Amino acid sequence: MTDRTALAIDYIEQCRQRIDAELERSIHQDSASERLQETMRYSVLGGGKRIRPALCLAAARAVGCAENAALIPACALELIHAYSLVHDDLPAMDDDDLRRGRATTHIAFDEASAILAGDALQTLAFSLLASAPELSDTQRVTMIAKLAQASGHSGMVGGQAIDLESVGIELDLEQLEHMHRHKTGALIEASVDLGAVSAPGVTQQQRSALSDYARALGLAFQVQDDLLDIEGDTAIIGKRQGSDAAKAKPTYPALLGLEGAREHLATLLEQAQRALDDFGVEAEPLRAIANYVVTRNH
Ligand code: IPE
Ligand code: IPE
Ligand code: MG
Ligand code: MG
Ligand code: MG
Repeated sequence: MTDRTALAIDYIEQCRQRIDAELERSIHQDSASERLQETMRYSVLGGGKRIRPALCLAAARAVGCAENAALIPACALELIHAYSLVHDDLPAMDDDDLRRGRATTHIAFDEASAILAGDALQTLAFSLLASAPELSDTQRVTMIAKLAQASGHSGMVGGQAIDLESVGIELDLEQLEHMHRHKTGALIEASVDLGAVSAPGVTQQQRSALSDYARALGLAFQVQDDLLDIEGDTAIIGKRQGSDAAKAKPTYPALLGLEGAREHLATLLEQAQRALDDFGVEAEPLRAIANYVVTRNH
C-alpha cells in the first residue's frame, strides 16, 4: 500500500465517524413512520465507503475552510448517494440482492418500503442543506441548486436513464463517457464543489481547478467500479460480482477490454492529480483520495 493510499484510508475513516454521527442525528428526527425510519437507517447507516462526503470535507480543507462547515453538505451528498443505490438495486432497475455486504433494501424490507426510503433520503438531503447552521443563505441556495442539478435529470438520474436505455446496445467511447459523467461523475463533481463552496472566500480559479480534478476523478471512479464488477470478489466488494455482464450493461471493460480500461484509469488519475498542481499540502487528502479511488478493492 502506498503512503497516499494509507493516508486516504485514515482520512476517510475519520470523516466516516463524523458523518455517521451526523446522519444518525438527522434520521433520528421526527418521522411519521417507524418502519420508514428503520428502512432509511438500514439504507444509509449500514456500511458504504463514504467517498463522496470525504471528498466534500477534503475539498473544503483544500481551500482553507474548517471541515466542520462542510459537514452538513457532506451528509447531504451521502443521503443522495444512498437513495440512488436503493433505487438502483430495485427489480425494475439493476435487480440486485446484495449491497454493502448485505441484503439490498428491497430484499431486507420490501419494494414499496425501498422506494419510499429512497424518496425520503433524497428530500432529507435538501432539508438538511436548507437549514445548515454554519452556512450563509447564499451558500445554502448555491448548494441546493448545485445538488439538485447534479442529482436530477441533468445529472445522476439522467445518467441512470441512459444506463437503462443502453442495456444490450453497443455504445462508443464518447457515449459511454457521456453516460458515466452523468450517472456517477455528476455527484462526485458536486461533492467537491459543495466542499469548495463551504469556504466563503473560495475563488473562481480554485473552484475551476477543483472542478477539473473532480471531472477526471468522477470518470475514474466508475471505470474502477466497472473493473471491480469483473475482477472483484463478491465477499470483498459487498455486491454481486458479474452483475453488469449478466445484464449486458455498457461498461468500460466491455468496450475497451480489461487492459484498455486500466490504461484509461491511469490517464484519468494523472489528470486528476495534475489539476491540483497549484494547491499545497492542504490538498493532500484530495490527492490521497484520488489514489484510493483507482486502487480500491471494494
Ligand atoms: C457505487 O458507489 C455506485 C456507483 C456510483 C458506481 P460506491 O462504490 O461509492 O458505493 P458505497 O457507498 O461504497 O457503497
Ligand atoms: C449506479 O451505477 C450509479 C448510481 C447512480 C447509483 P452501478 O449500477 O454501476 O452501481 P453498482 O455497481 O450497482 O453499485
Ligand atoms: Mg445501475
Ligand atoms: Mg447497480
Ligand atoms: Mg457498478
